[in-house]
Amino acid sequence: MQFHKILVFILILFMFSCNENKPTLITDKDFNKNWLFKKDTIPQGESITLDDSSWRKLNVPHDWAIEGPFDNKHNARNGGLPIDGIAWYRKHFTVDSNHKNKQISIEFDGVMDNSTVFINGHNVGKRHYGYSGFEYDLTPHIKFGEDNVIAVQCAPEVLSERWYPGAGIYRNVRLKLNNAVHIPQWGTYITTPNATAEQATVKIETKIKNATDSNTEATLETTILDTENNSVAVSTQTIQLEKNSEVKQIQDIEVSNPKLWDIGVPNLYKAISRVKIDGHVVDEFETEFGIRQIEFKKEGFYLNGKAVELNGVCMHHDLGPLGAAVNYRATERQMQIMQSMGANALRTSHNPPSTEMLQVCDRLGIVVIDEAFDEWKLPKVPNGYSNYFDEWAETDLRDMIKRDRNHPSVIMWSIGNEILEQGKPDGWKTAKMLNDICHDEDNTRPTTAGFNYYPASFTNKLAYQIDVVGVNYKPAYYGEIREQNPDMIFYGSETSSQTSTRGYYDIPLDYKVKKETNQVSSYDVTVGPSWAYSPDVEFAAQEANPHSLGEFIWTGFDYLGEPTPYGGRDNTTNGYWNDDWPSHASYFAPVDLCGFPKDRFYLYQSQWTTEPMVHVLPHWNWEAKKGETIPVYAYTNCDEVELFVNGKSYGKRVKGKDLTEVHTEYRGFLDSGYGFKRGIFKSKYRLSWNVPYQPGSIKVVAYKNGEVAATKEIKTAGKPAKIKLIADRTEIDADGKDLSFITVRIEDKDGNLCPNAENLVNFEITGNGVLESVGNGNSASLESFKEDHIKAFYGKCLAIIKGTEKAGTINIKATSIGLEVDNIIVNTK
Ligand code: GAL
Repeated sequence: MQFHKILVFILILFMFSCNENKPTLITDKDFNKNWLFKKDTIPQGESITLDDSSWRKLNVPHDWAIEGPFDNKHNARNGGLPIDGIAWYRKHFTVDSNHKNKQISIEFDGVMDNSTVFINGHNVGKRHYGYSGFEYDLTPHIKFGEDNVIAVQCAPEVLSERWYPGAGIYRNVRLKLNNAVHIPQWGTYITTPNATAEQATVKIETKIKNATDSNTEATLETTILDTENNSVAVSTQTIQLEKNSEVKQIQDIEVSNPKLWDIGVPNLYKAISRVKIDGHVVDEFETEFGIRQIEFKKEGFYLNGKAVELNGVCMHHDLGPLGAAVNYRATERQMQIMQSMGANALRTSHNPPSTEMLQVCDRLGIVVIDEAFDEWKLPKVPNGYSNYFDEWAETDLRDMIKRDRNHPSVIMWSIGNEILEQGKPDGWKTAKMLNDICHDEDNTRPTTAGFNYYPASFTNKLAYQIDVVGVNYKPAYYGEIREQNPDMIFYGSETSSQTSTRGYYDIPLDYKVKKETNQVSSYDVTVGPSWAYSPDVEFAAQEANPHSLGEFIWTGFDYLGEPTPYGGRDNTTNGYWNDDWPSHASYFAPVDLCGFPKDRFYLYQSQWTTEPMVHVLPHWNWEAKKGETIPVYAYTNCDEVELFVNGKSYGKRVKGKDLTEVHTEYRGFLDSGYGFKRGIFKSKYRLSWNVPYQPGSIKVVAYKNGEVAATKEIKTAGKPAKIKLIADRTEIDADGKDLSFITVRIEDKDGNLCPNAENLVNFEITGNGVLESVGNGNSASLESFKEDHIKAFYGKCLAIIKGTEKAGTINIKATSIGLEVDNIIVNTK
């Protein structure tokens, strides 16, 4: 080692030994690398002597199904991808002989699904629910200093969900080497019973396990670190530990002038829990938490004493072209995009989310409804959770809460979505049982559920078992619910279900599902399932019922599977939803599978944000419609908008006064008597004009208090001439995980987006990165996410680049026949 390197090394050592605040005893090892994989039924796949030398080598998190191919022999409802079958993962590892006294366990954040785990041929456990995290003790079976084999069999089934679940070891894995006295999995539980800007009480419950055959005395020292990692409080207690037992220690720690966690203000503290025996640290455990106060009143939701309207999104867990394989950056990007739309809340429909999703929401300041189930005992799909409910529901629910209850973002526990037991007179019993489990594990947050049967969920008393009532697709009944239940706290747990395709417009306006296109018009005037209605209708309902806590739109991002309105209407257990193939992904969201905003994104932005904005649609390339009438819509949060076509004003429209007609076919509005009727809804949330088409430009100018506050112009694009690459980040971490999302635009020679371009784009990646996935947001495209090329869809596509562990540069080059190429450099550090 050269002299300066030695010096740096000593300095680093010194820094670590000096920084008392930072954990130094690392017990968890990232166990994600160098797994072997085979998708096959393998007799004795767990055997230590099995020859696995020819198996595919890969790192987890891994989702085998996203590799495709799409095929209509797979259910479109599950994404038209190979999510089922038997597959094995194996990993060889050695544990040094000097760890002989350690407790060795393996922790999986989730395996999709029906997993069985073996260590050196011994079965250590089975788990059905792919969304649950679990840990197995390996200690009795470890061979120290020799080769050990972990084998995981996955046996996921088709139609186990109503959406795309992914398949395989799709979340993180850790190997833990603990001392015999240690803090076990999910061993801390932190709440803030008192939290004001002046003073907070942080209550920490810590479990300590003594896995030895002798009684011992230990001290628990908990240090609170503030947002800048400064120690602000320490509490120390002596604890008597019986042999082979676990104790719970409670510490109440005062923090003065705390920085409160809030929406968009993600102040996070850390608790460093150290267990010491004879003055030596034997375990260290870090828990991130927030200091905040939540209150639910019939008037609304209050965070730190302030009323907050929940502008929420429901989201499934897949990451579009990356599939279900969890990735922190991809998750963070999803929620940043949601935040830029104005969303401040997430409902993790309809299952426990990844831990990364909750970390992201903690760190962005987004509140979360953490949801456990989509089914109880009555099935929606043939291989769904109902088959496992009796055996597993209590464990899965308790585990979700134990895992998630330190996240300040989590504000409610949802015991289920549209549970069919709503229709049963005794359905309330299961609701009560689950509700009581939630309170037992955490009495600081209310329970909730998303009910879609109205009034059955009330008459069958399910709604009265939980604390906060969520109703799905019932804006017409908010008033009635309030009248009949004056003290009930409720909100729209699922709303709108409008569908659309980015970049596609039906002119003249059309309200029917078009079978021939497999695409839905982006005018967003309601096309969808029978329960769908435009966002505008919900905006009006929320305004008319200010006591509702807010709404959660279905969904924030498009997701794989459930390609409604395509794919049949048969919502029964036998429903095979392939009759509109190739549709295989959702059309529901204001953002497509790639994260590109659709027009509707801006409709929500106009309602949910205050920074002046204006959006105009459609695009301005209607060569075949010269002289014909084109409806032009503008979405704004300003007072009024003026439209110009080729410089000529078509007049100002005033928000709140000039209305736009939106169709609403939803049967729930029929004769509701609450102002919502089936048929035409006159929306005050969008402004519109009818103008004759002439190529050139459309420009909208938005005014606030008479002053120009925002403008947007779209020009008629010429022929596709060049590729334009735009990276969301040009500097990423060289950790083998971080991603750069490269938006690819097909532009004319002047840099205008060609709104109908479908050019095939090829990618060449050189340097310290790889092409992880490609996509274009087309829910009916059968192109692979894993090739080095994809066609643009309405002018755009996406390349997702992953850095390697070696720092350097990644050069991304995109080519397409007849177009000027583009290059972009991403640096990795
Ligand atoms: C709801 C359901 C969601 C999704 C949605 C589509 O009824 O809870 O999971 O299927 O419909 O509109």
